[in-house]
Amino acid sequence: MSLPKVFVTRIIPPGAQEILNTVAEIEIWPHDTKPPQEVLIKKASECIGLFTTIEDRIDSKVLESGKNSLKIVSNYAVGYDNFDINTATKNGIIMCNTPDVLSQTTADLAFGLMLSIARNIVKGDNFVRQGKWTHWHPSTLLGQDVHGANLLVVGLGRIGVEVCRRALGFGMNIFYHSRTRKLDLEKELGIEFITKLEDGVSESDFISIHTILNDQTYHLFGKDQFNIMKKSAIIVNTARGPIIDMESLYEALKNNQIAGAALDVTEPEPILMNHPILSLENFVVTPHIGSASTETRKKMAIAAARNIEAYLLQKPIPSSING
Ligand code: NAP
Ligand code: GLV
Repeated sequence: MSLPKVFVTRIIPPGAQEILNTVAEIEIWPHDTKPPQEVLIKKASECIGLFTTIEDRIDSKVLESGKNSLKIVSNYAVGYDNFDINTATKNGIIMCNTPDVLSQTTADLAFGLMLSIARNIVKGDNFVRQGKWTHWHPSTLLGQDVHGANLLVVGLGRIGVEVCRRALGFGMNIFYHSRTRKLDLEKELGIEFITKLEDGVSESDFISIHTILNDQTYHLFGKDQFNIMKKSAIIVNTARGPIIDMESLYEALKNNQIAGAALDVTEPEPILMNHPILSLENFVVTPHIGSASTETRKKMAIAAARNIEAYLLQKPIPSSING
């Protein structure tokens, strides 16, 4: 008897392939770059499952094309703003993600970015490579202390909480703004809720963004927010690029209205190589590598595969977003 077909949009670690191989006939897109939209539309009409990445736009055209075939789509990621959840739900297609397994790794990177900009790590590396380290001087590359500083975590979800845990180790004063207040976490972590985002923004030394991207968080940080931030403030975004209005960020950095920004995510992705923000020294950027450790990527691939496996074995799906 032939197995149901699953299309995998990128080469994935062997453990995940083995899981899928036991329950499905899998076809793996062999290229490093994403399949064109026409390929996704065609595969949706032929397959029961899609194993996708954040670059694959699973929009209404893909989902409508799969309405008689496609039953499950599993993202190799926790974020799912590349999914049209409403159309999927309307067509009875189960959409899944990989929460939890990447929270610690992503929080590590958020902290790394915070330190890299506050303590001039990238600038210092460039300084040395450019032959500028000719002598020791007490005021070379003076940065800002992270310990004792005020940190505002925006979006107290799985990753936001892990950032708080790291910040506690660094002796920071932690505030958070989120859609819902979390009294239990306030007690456990000794953190303070800020009802109005602007109140936290104006008092913070560091801001770290961990919300999902949705209509409410699109350009949550723009001109108005940068205008009220401290001149010494540093903003870090490891969530999704469009949560920050990049043009306003560029202006704020260029005019030294704020001290620095470190982004793992940009709008668009990849960032355009001619974007003037790339010429600024108070800006650090990484190519969306929040969850990119070998172990975590394996766990994510396995988690995404387990969602599809569970559906095909008629078992409860570990991480379904819409049912
Ligand atoms: P999560 O547990 O769902 O947390 C997201 C938080 O966003 C929730 O706590 C939610 O608040 C908050 N939120 C939603 N709408 C909001 C709003 N309008 N204002 C303020 N807060 C709002 O998700 P997670 O696992 O921590 O992941 C967060 C995001 O990080 C993902 O969606 C993804 O986009 C991104 N991410 C990026 C990388 C990377 O490689 N850079 C890696 C992993 C994840 P409440 O709980 O208060 O309702
Ligand atoms: C990565 O960006 C993720 O959402 O897992």
